[in-house]
Amino acid sequence: MVKRVVEEQSSRSAGPPAKSQIAVLVIHGPNLNLLGEREPEVYGRTRLNDIDKELKTLGRELETKVETFQSNSEGAIVDRIQKARGKTDVLLLNPGAYTHTSVAIRDAILAVDIPVIEVHLSNVYRREAFRHHSTIADVAHGRIMGFGAESYSLALRAARTVVESARKRSD
Ligand code: DQA
Repeated sequence: MVKRVVEEQSSRSAGPPAKSQIAVLVIHGPNLNLLGEREPEVYGRTRLNDIDKELKTLGRELETKVETFQSNSEGAIVDRIQKARGKTDVLLLNPGAYTHTSVAIRDAILAVDIPVIEVHLSNVYRREAFRHHSTIADVAHGRIMGFGAESYSLALRAARTVVESARKRSD
C-alpha cells in the first residue's frame, strides 16, 4: 500500500517521521449539486463547489489527498465506489436520498471494504420519519450529521483516526 511505503521512507530520514499521506474520496449523492439554492433553510447557503474547495484546502493541512465526486445517479455512485478500491483509505459518503433506500450502495461499500464515514448536512432524526432509516448506518465506521457544510470538514478530520484504528486492527 502506498501509505506504508511513505511511512518506511520517512522513518529512514533524519528528524521526526512525517505524517503519511492518506487518500480520502468524498461522494455527494443526488440533488447535492444544488446546494446553496436547494432548501437553504435545511441545507444552508454554501455551494457544493465551495465545500469541495474547502475540503481540498483542509486536506493539505491534514496531509490528506482529497478527491470529490457528485452524481444524481445511483449506478454512477456504485461505479465510483468500486473504482476507489485499492486507491482510497476512507470514503466520506453523503448518499442524499439514497441513504434511505439504496441496497446497491450498501452492497458496494461491503464489496470494496473501504471504511466509510456517513455524512449529512442536516440532522436526519429531526426530520421526517422516512429519513430516520439509513441502509448504510450499520456498515459505516461512523456518522456525522447536523452541522451543515461543517459536517464534511468534521468527517475529514476524523478520517485519519479511522485509518489508524483500521491499521491497529490489522497489525
Ligand atoms: C441529506 C439528508 C437526506 O435525507 C436528503 O435526502 C438529502 C441530504 C443531508 O445531507 O442532510 O438529500 O443526506
